[in-house]
Amino acid sequence: EKDPLVVLVTGAAGQIGYALVPMIARGAMLGPDQPVILHLLDIEPAADILKGVKMELMDGAFPLLKGVVTTTDVVEACKGVDIAIMLGGFPRRKGMNNKDLISKNIGIYKAQASALEQHADTNCKVLVVANPANTNALILKEYAPSIPEENITSLTRLDHNRALCQLSDNLNVHVGDVKNVIMWGNHSSNQYPDANHAIVNIGVGHKLVKELVADDHWLNTGFITNVQQRGEAIIKARRLSSALSAASATCDHMRDWVLGTPKGTWVSMGVYSDGSYGIQPGLIYSFPVTCEKGEWSIVQGLKIDEFAREKMDALEKELIEEKNFAYSCLH
Ligand code: NAI
Repeated sequence: EKDPLVVLVTGAAGQIGYALVPMIARGAMLGPDQPVILHLLDIEPAADILKGVKMELMDGAFPLLKGVVTTTDVVEACKGVDIAIMLGGFPRRKGMNNKDLISKNIGIYKAQASALEQHADTNCKVLVVANPANTNALILKEYAPSIPEENITSLTRLDHNRALCQLSDNLNVHVGDVKNVIMWGNHSSNQYPDANHAIVNIGVGHKLVKELVADDHWLNTGFITNVQQRGEAIIKARRLSSALSAASATCDHMRDWVLGTPKGTWVSMGVYSDGSYGIQPGLIYSFPVTCEKGEWSIVQGLKIDEFAREKMDALEKELIEEKNFAYSCLH
C-alpha cells in the first residue's frame, strides 16, 4: 500500500469544504489507491463545525482515510502537507467586487504562505480556490518563495467545466464528448471561455465545435454570458452558491495535475505565466495546460483571433490591476 499523502483543506467548515472532504476521502482527487490524511483548518468561530465534519468523516468509514486533524492553528494545519487546497478566506458578500475581496484576503494569504513555506513539504502542490483566486495565489507565491512557483495554482476548472456543459447542451451531445475549451486569465465576472479550439467526439474522430454549432456568433455572445452568469443562476435557484460543482472541479484540477491529463486533452489552470501568449511573466493567469508526472505545461502555438486577443489582454490588465492593488494594501 502507498504511504498516505497529507491533504490540507483550509476553510474546511464552509460549504465547498463539506462537499469536498468526502470526495477526497473516496479517492476522487488522488486516485482510488492513494491513502490520505486530512488536515482541516478553519477559524475559531467554526471550530465546533470542524469537529462535526470530522465525526461525519469517521462515520463514513472510508478505507483510504488514514487520519483527520481538525485545527484552528495554521502552523499545525500546514505540518507535513503534500497537497494544499485553499478554500478559506473572507467570503464575497453581495455587491463586493474583487478589490473589496483582495483587501480582506491579502493578510490571510500572506500568513498562510509563510506557514506553508515553513511547515509543508518542500514540494507541496497548492490550489487556491478562495476568491479572488488568482490574486490570492499570487500573494501566496510571492510570500512562499521556497515553494517552487510552478507548485502554486488557482482554480478555473469550474468555469472550464461549465463551458463544456454549455457546449454539450447546445450541441445535444454528452459532456464527456466535448473537450479543449479554454478559460483564459482571471476567474472574475469578465471571465472568457474560448471555444475556438474546442472539439467534439463524433465517433470516427473529432470535429471542431465551431463547425457544428448552428450559429457560431453564439460562441462570442450567449455562450460567454451563460458561463459568466452560471454562478448567479445557481445562487438564485439554490439560495446558496455552487459548492458541489466547485468541489468536483477542485478534485478534477488536482487529479489531472497529479495523475496527468488524458492524451489529446487539455484543461484550464491558473498557473504562473512564463510569458506564453504574450502574458506578463509572473502573473497567475489561466492557460490551457496538459499535465504529466505531476507537472503542467502550457499548450503552445494555438492560433488566437482578434476577439480572443482582446479578451485575453483585458483579463491580463485586470490581473495587473489586482496585483498592484494588492501590493498597495500590503505596503
Ligand atoms: P464559505 O464561506 O462557506 O466557507 C469559507 C470558510 O473559510 C468558512 O468556513 C470560514 O470560516 C473560513 N475562513 C475564513 N477565514 C479563514 C482563515 N483565515 N483561515 C481559514 N479558514 C477561514 O465559502 P464557500 O462557498 O465554501 O467558498 C469558499 C471560497 O471559494 C470562497 O472564497 C468562494 O468565493 C470561492 N469559490 C471559488 C470558485 C472558483 O471557481 N475559483 C468557485 C466557488 C467558490
